[in-house]
Amino acid sequence: MARVELRHINKRYPGVQALDDIDLDIESGEFFTLLGPSGCGKTTLLRTVAGFNRQDSGEVRVAGERIDGMPAYRRNIGLVFQDYAIFPHMTVGDNVAFGLRNRGRPRQEIAERVARALDLVRLGAHAARLPHQLSGGQQQRVGLARAVVIEPQILLMDEPLSNLDAKLRIELRDDIRDLQRSLGITTIYVTHDQEEALVISDRICVMQGGRVHQVGTPWEVYARPATLFVASFVGAMNVIADLRVGAGGALALGLASRLAPVLAGRDCVTLAIRLEDMTVAGTSEDVPSDALALDGAVDKVTFAGREAFYRVQLDDGPQILAHVHRPERRLLERTGARVRLILPLANVHLFDPALGRRIEAVS
Ligand SMILES: Nc1ncnc2c1ncn2[C@@H]1O[C@H](COP(=O)(O)OP(=O)(O)OP(=O)(O)O)[C@@H](O)[C@H]1O
Ligand SMILES: [Mg+2]
Repeated sequence: MARVELRHINKRYPGVQALDDIDLDIESGEFFTLLGPSGCGKTTLLRTVAGFNRQDSGEVRVAGERIDGMPAYRRNIGLVFQDYAIFPHMTVGDNVAFGLRNRGRPRQEIAERVARALDLVRLGAHAARLPHQLSGGQQQRVGLARAVVIEPQILLMDEPLSNLDAKLRIELRDDIRDLQRSLGITTIYVTHDQEEALVISDRICVMQGGRVHQVGTPWEVYARPATLFVASFVGAMNVIADLRVGAGGALALGLASRLAPVLAGRDCVTLAIRLEDMTVAGTSEDVPSDALALDGAVDKVTFAGREAFYRVQLDDGPQILAHVHRPERRLLERTGARVRLILPLANVHLFDPALGRRIEAVS
C-alpha cells in the first residue's frame, strides 16, 4: 500500500498544455479515478506516473519516495491498458508469469503466484489457453492478473473496459473493484465514462483541458459540482445560462427574493438542476418558501415504464427535461398542458456565468 503525491505537474506538447499544474494526493489503498473528455490529459498524467512520459516540471512521489527521475522499469507499478497488450503467442499462464520471470523469481514461486493471480481473476482453469481462445473480457482479466502478480505498489489502469461490450463492461467493472478492494492496492483508473467513474471510485478527479476541476467522492462530484463543466459532464443536468436575476428579469419565480443574500450584486447567474431533482406540478401550485418555480408548457412526454421524461418549454426560456419516477397514467396525457416545475433550493446549483464556478451557500 502506498500513497501517491503529484506535485505541480506540467507537460506541454506543441500547441497544447496537456497537464496544467496538476496537484493531487491519492491515499493509500484508494481507488482514484481520472475522469474527463477526450484530450483532457488523463493518459498523459497516467504515463507520467508510470514513467513513460517526462513531465516538464513537477514531482511524483510514491510512499514518500520521489520516483519521477526513475526509468519506468524500475518503478514498481502494475499497468493495465485499453488494448489488452498481452502476448498472443504465449499461453495465459506464461503471459502472467512474464513479469516474475523477468525479475528472476524461482520457478516454484512463479508457479504459485501465477496460480493465485489467475484464481483472483477467475481464470484458474484457463492457464494453458492462448489469448485468441479467450473472450475480450477474459483477455482483459489476463491483463489484470499480469499487472497484480508482481505485487506492485500501485496499479494504473487506462480505460481497461473501453474495448468491451456493455454487458461485459459492467461485469468486469465489478470484478476490478472487488479485486482492488481485496488486494487493497492504491489504484489510479482512467475513464471518460462518468457512470463507470461514479460506480467504481472512492474519489474522482474531473479534468478538462489539462486542469483539475474537482476532486471528490462520487457523491460530492454528482451532488455538489464545483464548476459548470463538472455539473454538465457528470450525469444529466438542465442548464439555464445567463439567467437574469435583476428587477423584472427573473424567469424563475422567487429566484431574486429567495436567493437575495447569495446573489448580492449580481444581475446574472447560470442555474443548473438535475432531471430528477424537481417536481412537475400544476400552475396554481403554491411555491414553497424553500423552492423556486419555473412555468412552461409540456412539449413532449416520454414514457419508459418505471420512469417518464417531461420536456417542458419554459416561458421565455430554454427547454427543461424533468424526470418523473413511477409516473401515473394521468400525468402521461399532458402534452401541451401548462405546468409549474418546482425546484427545491437545496437541489439548485448556481454558477458564476463568467468563471463557471459554483456559487456556494445555496443549501
Ligand atoms: N505524444 C504527443 N505528442 C503531442 N501531443 C500529444 C501527445 N500525447 C498527447 N498529446 C496531446 O495532449 C493532450 C492530452 O492527451 P491525452 O492522451 O493525455 O488525453 P486523454 O484525456 O487521455 O484523451 P482520451 O480520452 O482520448 O484518451 C491532447 O491534446 C493530445 O493531443
Ligand atoms: Mg487517453
